Amino acid sequence: MTPVLRAEQLSKRFGGLQAVQGVSFSVAPGEILAVIGPNGAGKTTLLNLLSGLYRPSAGRLFLGDRDVTSLSVEGRCRLGLGRAFQIVRPFPEMTVHENVTVGALFGTPGTRLHDARAQAWTLLERTGLIAHAEKAAHDLTLLQDKRLEVARALATRPRLLLLDEVMAGLRPTEAQEAVALVRSVRDSGVSVLFIEHIMPVVRDLADRVIVMDQGQVLAEGPYHDVTQDPRVVSAYLGTPLTEVT
Ligand SMILES: Nc1ncnc2c1ncn2[C@@H]1O[C@H](COP(=O)(O)OP(=O)(O)OP(=O)(O)O)[C@@H](O)[C@H]1O
Ligand SMILES: [Mg+2]
Repeated sequence: MTPVLRAEQLSKRFGGLQAVQGVSFSVAPGEILAVIGPNGAGKTTLLNLLSGLYRPSAGRLFLGDRDVTSLSVEGRCRLGLGRAFQIVRPFPEMTVHENVTVGALFGTPGTRLHDARAQAWTLLERTGLIAHAEKAAHDLTLLQDKRLEVARALATRPRLLLLDEVMAGLRPTEAQEAVALVRSVRDSGVSVLFIEHIMPVVRDLADRVIVMDQGQVLAEGPYHDVTQDPRVVSAYLGTPLTEVT
């Protein structure tokens, strides 16, 4: 099956710093892929290369069969690449429902307002925000805010959703709710690539894990394999994670 996304030797240099170097991987349809690694490893830079915020210094990127290396953020969004966080910040004075409606209107050009509003209700139901639909976005709790980010990204009808540390700051029970939400997104047919430092979340969610260090892929595989890899332990984890439940 054609991968949803395929990165070929992607690199990004900032002046003298090689933030991402020769990174190649692909995401299969319906797959949840985690990207982990120490601070400064190049994870967010990689995500910015995928979403189109940064142009690579070298390498190529494909969405399905299409070479999107020089396509804009908006162009990639139209081809099914969704990003929670940083697409556009929520409009704080607008209601939750209005915020998702905006995502639906602009994510798919030509969408009529009536249809966008209806789609927004469906997404609020799916993301557990229906009871908060009429609240102003700035009145949401942190967990509800994360849900809104996911709802807005889904409104653009992505085939692949990119998430950068969306669990940060959540309490453990809230993180479990967020894990369930990401699973339900995948079950609806959307692939997910997420960056995360919370290892129990990575363990519970990821089908496959890519470990980055100093801009490069250090290891790749199932959670239990990469977390036992001595290079990963020494570069990132400090101690093996066998005892974590
Ligand atoms: N816009 C930029 N200009 C210059 N250097 C940058 C820029 N963005 C990132 N860097 C540098 O590139 C390297 C990789 O940063 P990046 O933010 O991708 O790491 P990260 O893996 O996401 O780290 P963290 O886990 O702390 O979020 C770092 O050395 C960082 O300082
Ligand atoms: Mg980062």
